[in-house]
Amino acid sequence: MSKQKIIIDTDPGQDDAVAILLALASPDEIEVLGITAVAGNVPLALTQRNARMVCELAGRPDIRVFAGCDRPLGRDLVTAEHVHGKSGLDGPVLPDPVMPLQEQHAVDFIIDTVREHASGSVTLCPLGPLTNVAMALEKAPDIAPRIRQIVLMGGAYFEVGNITPSAEFNIYVDPQAARIVFRSGVPLVVMPLDVTHKALVTAARNDAFRAIGSPVGIAVAQMTEFFERFDKEKYGSLGAPLHDPCVTAWLIRPDLFTGRHVNVEIETQSELTMGMTVADWWRVTRRAPNALFMGDVDADGFFDLLTERLARL
Ligand code: RIB
Ligand code: CA
Repeated sequence: MSKQKIIIDTDPGQDDAVAILLALASPDEIEVLGITAVAGNVPLALTQRNARMVCELAGRPDIRVFAGCDRPLGRDLVTAEHVHGKSGLDGPVLPDPVMPLQEQHAVDFIIDTVREHASGSVTLCPLGPLTNVAMALEKAPDIAPRIRQIVLMGGAYFEVGNITPSAEFNIYVDPQAARIVFRSGVPLVVMPLDVTHKALVTAARNDAFRAIGSPVGIAVAQMTEFFERFDKEKYGSLGAPLHDPCVTAWLIRPDLFTGRHVNVEIETQSELTMGMTVADWWRVTRRAPNALFMGDVDADGFFDLLTERLARL
């Protein structure tokens, strides 16, 4: 597989951080053209700061980080400090970022980058609310056919919601943006809670991160130890679900994942089910499939890949 050129759109978030580290640890498969921050887990001022801290943790202060939208398209911002802590990256003590934040707005960076690269060569990897990506598609409709694919973490079907009974956080925060992306016609690969809740950082897997012994390995162990408590308490799960790294892992080893090409629509009318991803898993409607919606992952293979790659940083 040729090296994939990607833009990571993100709201770090400990799991976003691990996804970014995995991408930066895999230069043979992935070229990170830039990182665009969006408001989500914590406000934009923190997500853009956290993104830069993660790049410096990876030894990559050369990566360009851009700030994007500080609120959803049509709703008040909902954040998730209850999961990720006040900073969004609670757990390790990381130094303040030194690398600069880019001047250009993230939405304009996305538009310019897709226009400047060969058509079909750039993949967008949203790991948070889809506000930046939707704004880029709305501002520059010409980029939609030029985007290779959008590989995103978001949504839920069999697993139902994690922020409301029916919605997953990334989609719930900006359902209008999600509707734009899911109706854009761009090829979509979706990592919903149905699969990310099977990628759990058990104690043994956390020990393996720590045993890497490097600042990256220790920081990742501290990050996942911090943000596991929410899921352990709510679901009784065995550890933190590594939601966002499923996106990067798919780019490297798509064979680790299985899913179904189905139609997925976004609830944007009812407050009761706002942000629900209505996946036609059993194809009972005539709505055209628009997403490869993942349902399963080889968790041991995923963690073997992740641990091996993190050890390279
Ligand atoms: O629901 C999980 C998603 O919401 C993850 O991307 C996490 O980082 C938060 O953004
Ligand atoms: Ca995220």
